[in-house]
Parts: sequence; C-alpha cells; structure tokens
Amino acid sequence: MSKAAIVLAAGAGTRMKSALPKVLHKVAGLPLLGHVVRALRDAGVERIVVVTSAAGEAVRDYARALGCEGAIQHQQLGTGHAAASAKDALSDFSGTLVVVNGDMPLVTSETINDCLTAQARTGLALLTFQPQDPAAYGRVLLTPDGFLNRIVEYKDATASERAITLCNAGCYAADARAFFRWASQLNNDNAQKEYYLTDVPLLAREEGVKCAIAVADEVAVTGVNSRAELADAERKYQGRVRARMLADGVTMTAPETVFFAHDTVVESDVEIEPFVIFGAGVTVGHGARLRSHSHLEGATVASGAIIGPFARLRPGARIGEDVHIGNFVEIKNTVIEKGAKANHLTYLGDARVGAGANIGAGTITCNYDGFTKAITDIGAGAFIGSDTALVAPVKIGDGAITAAGSVITQDIAPDALAIARGVLTEKPGWAKAFRDRKRMEQK
Ligand code: UD1
Ligand code: MG
Repeated sequence: MSKAAIVLAAGAGTRMKSALPKVLHKVAGLPLLGHVVRALRDAGVERIVVVTSAAGEAVRDYARALGCEGAIQHQQLGTGHAAASAKDALSDFSGTLVVVNGDMPLVTSETINDCLTAQARTGLALLTFQPQDPAAYGRVLLTPDGFLNRIVEYKDATASERAITLCNAGCYAADARAFFRWASQLNNDNAQKEYYLTDVPLLAREEGVKCAIAVADEVAVTGVNSRAELADAERKYQGRVRARMLADGVTMTAPETVFFAHDTVVESDVEIEPFVIFGAGVTVGHGARLRSHSHLEGATVASGAIIGPFARLRPGARIGEDVHIGNFVEIKNTVIEKGAKANHLTYLGDARVGAGANIGAGTITCNYDGFTKAITDIGAGAFIGSDTALVAPVKIGDGAITAAGSVITQDIAPDALAIARGVLTEKPGWAKAFRDRKRMEQK
C-alpha cells in the first residue's frame, strides 16, 4: 500500500515568541520539521505534503529542500482545517495517509509504524501516550472495548477530564480518501473556535469506522510549543543519542556533558571526555580520543587521532590517522595527514599538512587578505618552528624547517631551513648600566 503524509506546519507558534517559524527552531542542529520528515521517510512514506501559512516562505523553502510537496493554509483556523488544506495536493493519491504535527522532533519511524499498524485494524488510528506531566495536551477518552471515544482539548476539558492521563500525541493514520471526506465535515464549535483535527474520529464513527489506539513512548511524541519545551526536547534527544553512543561502544565518563548533533557519527572505542560539543557533519573513527572542551563541526577525525583539550575543528577539517591536535588549536578547511602534530596555540586554515609534519606553538596560516582565501601547503615531515606566520599562498617543501618567529612569504624548498626574523644583537652589561643610571637619577 502506498503511503503519503501531511505535516502540519502552518501554526503561528505564538508561544515560542519568535520571529522564526516554530518548526524551523532546531533540536540537535536540525529544524523540528527536518526530524519529522526524516522519521516519515524512514517509515517508508513516499509523498510528504507540508502545510504552511501564506507567510511561511521560509518553511516552504526548507520543505522543498527536503524534497517535500507544499500546501498553503491561508488562515490559521485550526489543525483540522490545516490538514484539509492538503486535499488538492493529494487529489491524485489513494492509499494510507499519515497526518502528523510538525512540532514533534523526537518522533521515530517505529512510532509512525505503530500508528500505521493500528490503522490497519479499523481504518483509522490515533497515536496516544501517557506523559508524566499531561500539561495542556488533548485528553483521550476510550470506549469500554478500548477504541477511541473522543479527544477533549485541554481548553475545553472539565476538571475530571483534565485528570485523565492518556493524551493525544498529534499523529493520525487513515485511508486518504476517507480522511479528506471526514475533514471536510469538521466544525469549529469549541473553546478556541478552531477546526480541530481531533474531531475527525467522531465523523468517522458516524460512518461506522472505529478509531484504534496506538500507545507511543512519551519521549518520542514530545511536542514543542514554547522555548521551555524546546529545551526539554533537546535534553531528551541528547539523552537518546548518548544512550545509543554508549551502547555502540563509545566511552564517555560524563555523557550528560557531551552534546551531539543529529547526524554525528562516532565509531566504537572512541573516548569522549566531558564537555565536548558537536556541530553538524562530524565523523569520528575507531579509537580516536576527543579531549575535554573541544568543539567540532563539519569535521572528520580518523582512527587513533587525539583532539584537544580545548581544540576547535571547523568545517572542512580532515584529521588523519594518529594525528595530534592540542590545546587552543583551530583548524578550518585543512587536511592534516597521518601522524602530523599541532599541539599548541595554532590556526591552520585552507591548508594541507603532510604526514608526520610538526607544527610549532603559535603557528598561524595567514590565509585571508580581506578579499580572498589562499592556500598553505606544508610538506611531509616539515618542521614549522614556533610562532611562524605562513603568508599564503605559500608552500613549504617536504622535510623543510622554518625557524621560530619567522614570517614566511615565499615557497621553501624541500629539506631547506628558512629564517625570516630580525638579527639578534647582544650588548654585554647594558641592562645593569641602564638600571644604575636610572637609580642615580632618582636620588
Ligand atoms: C495539538 C492537539 C492536541 C495534542 C497536541 C500534541 C489539536 C486541536 N490539538 O495541540 O490534542 O495533544 O497537538 O502535540 O489538534 N497548525 C497548523 N494550522 C493551524 C493550527 C496548527 O498548521 O491552524 C499546526 C502547527 O504548526 C503544529 C500543529 O499543527 O505543527 C499542532 O498545532 P499546535 O498549536 O501545536 O497544537 P497543540 O496545542 O499542541
Ligand atoms: Mg503542539
């Protein structure tokens, strides 16, 4: 059976108090909408229609970049009205439809599949969950035989209904044609004067279709409506990734201090010390060691490398096997080949460092003249003396040495020594004579 989905993302997101649309706020570096779309794809959903408001240009652009189709809800009249807005976009579709809120970043393909499995029993299913704090979620009332009786929105609920702990997760599955027939019959006779998606099961029942219930894990269906809930979703997402990393053979003595991105790849026997932060696009190979307070983004680290403490790997950093990158070293768009070392206080940008080269403390690639970036190429086995400034474009030959404190402005041949610094003059006794004279003047 072919599968399509409608993702609801047209809401004003008022509770976020943000100029950025709610579904573009990020968890682990990926917008909320990106998480939902990924889970749907993993569950085998081929077509995804993202419903946006007329003003939701940024959301539409992002959805298109994810390969989704779009539908516009011209007025924000509620979740049911939003889902119905996707009718034209899916007029040629027959099959099973998943309707899901765009603000559920922890949703997984398993959760979506559970909802689809329940749908196969009756023709309509609702995903529910039992949160520790039911907050303002819609409350789910069941029939004696365990099907959905109705959903009561928190704002419409009586005190006794609010005491119910089974809640609506915001994910539905139905036959597409039937769904749009029901959605077109919704009314807005409720506290918020909105067309509630939650009333669809009532209309299905009038046609004799019962709504089956799937019960999801609380974490997977966490909804984000405010900054506090965004922070809570981040905390839960990080908890999930940390547990997976530990299970996959990554060592972390204080996992609660390590922050991963949605796409971080870490192989087994990697050791991650406390307070390491991952931005997007990082891969770390077997047995590497990431020391405390290092920050990595868009970087690959090969087996056996040691990074940090206090190192910063920026996009395009390619760290080879057994390389050592030490404290206060920043690396951007640079390949460091096998066994090379840059252990202290260095900036390497737009460069290649050959195998086994040694980069002394305080080395700087001067790669930017305010207009363009230029390349520095350091040969295998080269020794860059401390406090060398490499003015790019420049090439240091294999095995060459630069003297400490040099400013290198031309290419250096392999195995040569380059010295580019002022000539040292030593004046014997000068310092003592100076002090004696000053003391005499003070008397
Ligand atoms: C909704 C459910 C509630 C459930 C909760 C789960 C309804 C009426 N209530 O409440 O039962 O417990 O989700 O998280 O469905 N949206 C539109 N157009 C609109 C209104 C909303 O596209 O006119 C979108 C929003 O962008 C959002 C989603 O629908 O992605 C849900 O809307 P939201 O306002 O977050 O609903 P909740 O109050 O969370
Ligand atoms: Mg919500």
